[in-house]
Amino acid sequence: MTPGPPRWRFALVGSPVAHSRSPDLFAALAAGAGTTCDYTLADISGPALDAWWSGPARELHGFNVTVPHKTTAAARCTALSGPAARIGAVNAVRLEPDRGTTGTNTDAAGFDLTLGDAAFERAVVLGAGGAARAVVDVLLGRGVARVRLVNRSPARAAELVASRSASERARVSTTPWSHLADALDGADLVVQTTSAALSAPEALATLPWESTTASALAVDLVYRPRRTAFLLGAARGGRRTADGLTMLAGQAAAAFDFFRGVESDPQVFSGVARGLADSLRAGVD
Ligand SMILES: NC(=O)c1ccc[n+]([C@@H]2O[C@H](COP(=O)([O-])OP(=O)(O)OC[C@H]3O[C@@H](n4cnc5c(N)ncnc54)[C@H](OP(=O)(O)O)[C@@H]3O)[C@@H](O)[C@H]2O)c1
Repeated sequence: MTPGPPRWRFALVGSPVAHSRSPDLFAALAAGAGTTCDYTLADISGPALDAWWSGPARELHGFNVTVPHKTTAAARCTALSGPAARIGAVNAVRLEPDRGTTGTNTDAAGFDLTLGDAAFERAVVLGAGGAARAVVDVLLGRGVARVRLVNRSPARAAELVASRSASERARVSTTPWSHLADALDGADLVVQTTSAALSAPEALATLPWESTTASALAVDLVYRPRRTAFLLGAARGGRRTADGLTMLAGQAAAAFDFFRGVESDPQVFSGVARGLADSLRAGVD
């Protein structure tokens, strides 16, 4: 492999971005790879993305994309790779030598890492936003037989189902938010992807976990706090839990490789991302 530049230049674009963990994550990833990087935060909302994309972004090797631009970014890239086209959302963009932009979605790799080698039959996904799209892609790709989407606004859940192929649609259904308890019946995986806790920290604290299988796994994508009300409720109900930090570390590690044009070795990727997640866990409650 040819050596990279003396200092990589990356950024995160979105709004808000001030509290992002990405600068620390990428500094750790660069140090682990024996290189260095600058990672800047670009607080850009609305149509200002256009000027940023054709201006400052051109000085970078790659950039991450967050709310509210993940869908717009998918449409703006000159090429999509990995699962980005299926998911319809891009969270990592690489600047190509011909000035093209290749987008991918590394949230999927981060979520896949969270599930590890375990197999699941019946999954419930709470939420139908950008993160839920990556989660559903992973679940369908892993052969989960039934995926139930439960979202506050039914239309958005229906849109997600409609975005999948005809054969996949046979495995994905929607359940109204008011019937969440019904959806949990027999579930062996429950994934919390909503941002409900931002406005109501106790949201989803009490669910009828007894309806799920005894060995069900509860995953929360929200990682601030690490032990969310949703996860604490699942633990009280005797169910296994996984926080959002493995996904956070995994999406960053996959983006770090993608930006540099490095083909991730699965074993190395897993070791790096899990190590990074453990170091994050040591620093937060
Ligand atoms: N761990 C990680 O690496 C990782 C990666 C990606 C995202 N995340 C986290 O996942 C969360 C969602 O991200 P996203 O990109 O999918 O956001 P998004 O596209 O804005 O979607 C937000 C979702 O939350 C739902 N929601 C918001 N407020 C709600 C409320 N009060 N009650 C019920 N549902 C509510 C929305 O429902 P409606 O459709 O009805 O509005 C929608 O389904 C964020 O907290 C984000 O930080 C974590």
